[in-house]
Amino acid sequence: MKIKLSDKKLKDIKGDCEIIFVVSKNLEHKLVCDEKVLNEMNFKVEADEVLLLPEKKRMYVGIDDLEPESLRCAAALAMRTIAKSKITVLKIALYFTNDAEKGIKAMSEGFLLGAYNYQKYKSKPAKNNIKQIIISSENYYNKKIEIKNLAKKIKEAEIISRSVNFVRDIVNEPPSDLTPLKFSEIAKKEAKENNLTIKILGKKELEKLGMGAFLAVNRASIYPPQLIHLKYKPKNAKKKIVLVGKGLTYDTGGLSLKLGDGMLTMKMDMGGAGAILGVIMAISQLKLPVEVQAIIGATENAIGKDAYKPDDVLKAMNGKTIEVKNTDAEGRLVLADCLCYAQKEKFDYIVDIATLTGASMVALGEYTSAVMGFNQDLSYEILKSAKKSGELAGILPFNKYLPKLLKSDIADISNISASRYGGAITAGLFLGEFIENKNKQKWAHIDIAGPAFKDKSWGVNPVGASGAGVRLLVEWVRGVL
Ligand code: BES
Ligand code: ZN
Ligand code: ZN
Repeated sequence: MKIKLSDKKLKDIKGDCEIIFVVSKNLEHKLVCDEKVLNEMNFKVEADEVLLLPEKKRMYVGIDDLEPESLRCAAALAMRTIAKSKITVLKIALYFTNDAEKGIKAMSEGFLLGAYNYQKYKSKPAKNNIKQIIISSENYYNKKIEIKNLAKKIKEAEIISRSVNFVRDIVNEPPSDLTPLKFSEIAKKEAKENNLTIKILGKKELEKLGMGAFLAVNRASIYPPQLIHLKYKPKNAKKKIVLVGKGLTYDTGGLSLKLGDGMLTMKMDMGGAGAILGVIMAISQLKLPVEVQAIIGATENAIGKDAYKPDDVLKAMNGKTIEVKNTDAEGRLVLADCLCYAQKEKFDYIVDIATLTGASMVALGEYTSAVMGFNQDLSYEILKSAKKSGELAGILPFNKYLPKLLKSDIADISNISASRYGGAITAGLFLGEFIENKNKQKWAHIDIAGPAFKDKSWGVNPVGASGAGVRLLVEWVRGVL
């Protein structure tokens, strides 16, 4: 599906269907020419309302305002509505409030993200027939528009949306197909196509490095673990950023086994790892002058005679000992070793991203990522990037009392908190214990357990994997320059 900018007037563009956004209480907008029908059909002028008039070749989509996020969601809804039709060419006016570039980027992202539909395992996959969406640059708002920058924004939207859709694909992949080794294969292919260098460490190398926590999680799995290390290093790099992702290709909970309902969807437990692979691909395609490294800890958390146990004590790469009190708190164990590994080199920032805790959803609701760290300014920057990108994020604050809950009687630290409250924060604090003092202010942690995967579509996101974290992190990396 291609998005094209045309300098023709909207009415002169040929298309099978025109999309019209109707702003609240503004049925008189000059593009609305079916007011009577809309009233007859009781069309409510509000977000999530859509009406397709096939004979008129027009589709009306309600929208609260013309801010970027509203445009993104309206465009996605339009795509979902028309997906099953035989229509191939759509046309639409350029909508925006103050900034046409932001408007066209958001709208293009909405179309591309809304068109996503995971069909890989269907013997008769549903086809999306839309080949082209033509956006007319005709100016309805009498505001300044730089045409050449608009085409650039469409290109950016394409790069970012393609990465998000790629991440959705790999997160949706069933866990017996997307094993750690398969993850490595995919990363290798993408490294080749995106000019990234890649280094993969297997079980032996992890043993040599003393990654006792990561290896323990892997022990009962029939699939070997993989630490996947990707680098994008442009000559003109102004900053260096390290991203670390939780890549649990399946989380059964281990011996602290999850119940059936809680286990279902745990193929998404590599959502953080998927996201950073998507981010490094997008950054490379956008040719941003910043070095980005992505470190993925890929393994399954399985059960079996070799399984690590509650009561075990593990030793991480930095020598810290960890008492295992719950084998379902496995992500932080894998990340602990990956974070130690990541700090072998110097960098400006280190950010980890993970489907880490159900507690983050209790705290913020299921659509919002939780941002944590010792550096409030950094957390705030990430929050601002999320908002710009169209993702939802909120900050969960650390405090001086919560770390005490991670005390262990027999080891340096326990892998779960002694309290049932604040579980997302204590998980973040656990990771913080593996950040060297000199790096504490350079680190942030993002828990995407809520938005990574849903059983219903929401905003620009489909049923299943959302690709959460990609848009947010690409925006943040961009802002770091
Ligand atoms: N992968 C889960 C977290 C999760 C839960 C992600 C729901 C997405 C949706 C993680 O490994 C886990 O099981 N965490 C435990 C921690 C607990 C044992 C302290 C949890 O959240 O219950
Ligand atoms: Zn778990
Ligand atoms: Zn997990």
